Amino acid sequence: MNWNALVQRINQDVEMTMGSKRFQHTLAVRDSALEMARRFDLNPLHAEVAALLHDIAREWPVKKLISYYERAKREDRPDWEADHLALLHGPAGALWAREYYGIEQNEVLEAISFHTTGHPTMGKVAKIVYLADKIEVSRAYQGVEEVRQLALRSIDKAMQVSVDQSICYIIKQGLFLHPYTVELRNHLLKELQNYDERNTGR
Ligand SMILES: [Fe+2]
Repeated sequence: MNWNALVQRINQDVEMTMGSKRFQHTLAVRDSALEMARRFDLNPLHAEVAALLHDIAREWPVKKLISYYERAKREDRPDWEADHLALLHGPAGALWAREYYGIEQNEVLEAISFHTTGHPTMGKVAKIVYLADKIEVSRAYQGVEEVRQLALRSIDKAMQVSVDQSICYIIKQGLFLHPYTVELRNHLLKELQNYDERNTGR
């Protein structure tokens, strides 16, 4: 696969098909993800493609969105998820990426699929796309600066704080809390605890 040609093609497609606000957000996520990919020595082309495609299905007509989501559905997804349209564009977009662009790399597909809820098994490229979505330059919520600073030195620490913030926000809004998000949070805590123990010799 010629990744540079693919990036160019996707760039054009997202510009043509997205509203201008979402396109600007997508470019900002791309920039932030690329910066982290370089900092943490991850595949920059995989990060760029995933970032450009993360919201590809966000503005789709509901019928198309649900049809892709249903085909992409994993067995461990909760039943109530299908009633929450904002949660469907990740998995739908990942299936689109595979079928329309022929992308087979799991680290790209899972980054698109899990960028809204997270997932306990998500890899580093998925994590930086998740983070980029939260800290891109136009984001201005309370706590964003803390995540930006953490993202300069530790993907997992930045993830843990960002996921905690999301969980607090979801609870305050009275929304459904996704099991993937809870599992991810617990997984990150465990990983960070293991890291601390290794480094302090305890
Ligand atoms: Fe999204």
